[in-house]
Amino acid sequence: MPTKRKEDRYEPDPVDGLPCELVGSWVKDKHTRLRHYVDISRAARRKFDGNTSFIDLYCGPGRAKINDTTEYLPGSTVAAALEAQRNTPFGSIHFGDLDADNMQACESRLARENLGPRHSYTGPAVETAAKVVAGLSKSGLHFAFLDPYNIKSMPFEVIQTLASKPRMDLLIHLSSMDLTRNIKQYMRSGTLENFAPGWRSHVDPHARNNLALIGLVNYWCGLIRGLGYEDVSTGLELVSGNRRQPLYWLALASRNPLGTRFWGEVSNVTPQNRLPF
Ligand SMILES: C[S@@+](CC[C@H](N)C(=O)[O-])C[C@H]1O[C@@H](n2cnc3c(N)ncnc32)[C@H](O)[C@@H]1O
Repeated sequence: MPTKRKEDRYEPDPVDGLPCELVGSWVKDKHTRLRHYVDISRAARRKFDGNTSFIDLYCGPGRAKINDTTEYLPGSTVAAALEAQRNTPFGSIHFGDLDADNMQACESRLARENLGPRHSYTGPAVETAAKVVAGLSKSGLHFAFLDPYNIKSMPFEVIQTLASKPRMDLLIHLSSMDLTRNIKQYMRSGTLENFAPGWRSHVDPHARNNLALIGLVNYWCGLIRGLGYEDVSTGLELVSGNRRQPLYWLALASRNPLGTRFWGEVSNVTPQNRLPF
């Protein structure tokens, strides 16, 4: 996916002419879980009386089309904001993308649905995260969705920066295809050090790819735990495609046991779907 040229990844939406991301059908499951989490956490949001936010640092254009179909769906920021709008809207929505066209398309689509208050950013997530947290209330309830194509775009610093707010839940997408294919190259290039600082003391670089991958993801979960979060690995969901090929993990990180419980209810973490920790 990320290696495709930009023109192969997007096409104009026939309704508004804005870019629309071409995606696999599995994206529907990812958005379903995101929306369910937004829905199930509504009572917690209500207690914060508007002092809440949704943060989407890899927002995409705000609309997607399932490959080889005519099926369209809202992108992550629009989907989460629409879901919250039904009962307890977010006090603010922060969204950004490295690609300015994507950010602008997402902005237009949120504006059309009258979703807000909105704050938009163009640039790498690591910079956007710092700008976003600088304006967030310390006493608020925040929820960030991290949905990069690959781990190169998600240095651990992004998570550390967001975690500086005490009530910051994180829903993180890790592409298993990216990690499986590229783990050895990431080890050599230094990408892994940005993603999971200190990995060398915990993962054998000579281990077979699948074992190195389990070690790495386990270690990364431990780094998140080190920021005061509940154990991410117990709720780490491995989502597979229709040919049972592993596609991605979704990890929910919350410092509140209730967040972890909610995630258990909306995800499908069966023994088969878990990493063998
Ligand atoms: C998987 S897509 C996001 C899809 C979107 N979250 C959704 O579900 O509708 C990943 C996005 O990350 C953006 N991106 C790539 N590298 C980035 C970086 N370092 N910082 C922020 N955004 C980045 C890409 O332009 C792309 O729009």
